[in-house]
Amino acid sequence: MPLIVSFLSQKGGVGKSTLARALAAVSSTGHLRVKLADLDVQQQTAVRWGKARKQRVSALPIEIGAFRSFEDALEDSDAFDLIIVDTPGHTSAATGTVARASHVVVVPTSATIDDLYPTVLLLHALEEIGISRNRLAIALCRVLEPGEEKTARDYVDAAGYELLPGFIPERATYRSAQNRGQALTEAVDAADDDPTNLLIEGLLRKIAAQSAAGKRKG
Ligand SMILES: Nc1ncnc2c1ncn2[C@@H]1O[C@H](COP(=O)(O)OP(=O)(O)OP(=O)(O)O)[C@@H](O)[C@H]1O
Ligand SMILES: [Mg+2]
Repeated sequence: MPLIVSFLSQKGGVGKSTLARALAAVSSTGHLRVKLADLDVQQQTAVRWGKARKQRVSALPIEIGAFRSFEDALEDSDAFDLIIVDTPGHTSAATGTVARASHVVVVPTSATIDDLYPTVLLLHALEEIGISRNRLAIALCRVLEPGEEKTARDYVDAAGYELLPGFIPERATYRSAQNRGQALTEAVDAADDDPTNLLIEGLLRKIAAQSAAGKRKG
């Protein structure tokens, strides 16, 4: 069975498709067989990005498909090591199904209390349906200035959830990169301590830890 990493949120526009594409781009650089499953059949953000990406001769190819249901997305799952699931900008009956099957569930949020509150509510709801905290992670996205990180860390710490290290700053270079079929990790050569690199590395570590925990359980 492949590893499954999903991006969920109660609010739209928080960065699910952005992070899903970044994870797909980074994990495709190794030997992993990766599929990016777009469950947002109306917007098809990942699929449309994949079309722009195909025009770029130098871009590493990524397998991307749109699926009406999570079950459809898993049909050929034996052919993949990692399935990245991008979901629509609202929760639905499918949210629990996706979360239950995921080794890691990432909920992106901005640093505003307006977004942090529904993020924590969603994590509570996921715990209530039996998903353990160690499979859940919050990712801070669309940060306008570094001081916002502390507000978010304090809020998430008080709620007792894991906020991944680093954050994704709001950058015009990220917008244009995604417009031309690149992931934000491919936008510019960033320093090792760039907050985006810290977040992506933290996410990869979290996925590796959950994969190892799954194997120990058998
Ligand atoms: N760090 C960033 N810097 C600049 N623009 C960003 C950043 N993150 C996301 N965006 C832009 O903000 C918009 C929303 O981001 P994204 O599509 O990733 O969110 P989403 O959670 O998938 O939205 P939806 O709920 O509608 O699916 C997009 O236009 C995206 O290109
Ligand atoms: Mg999206």
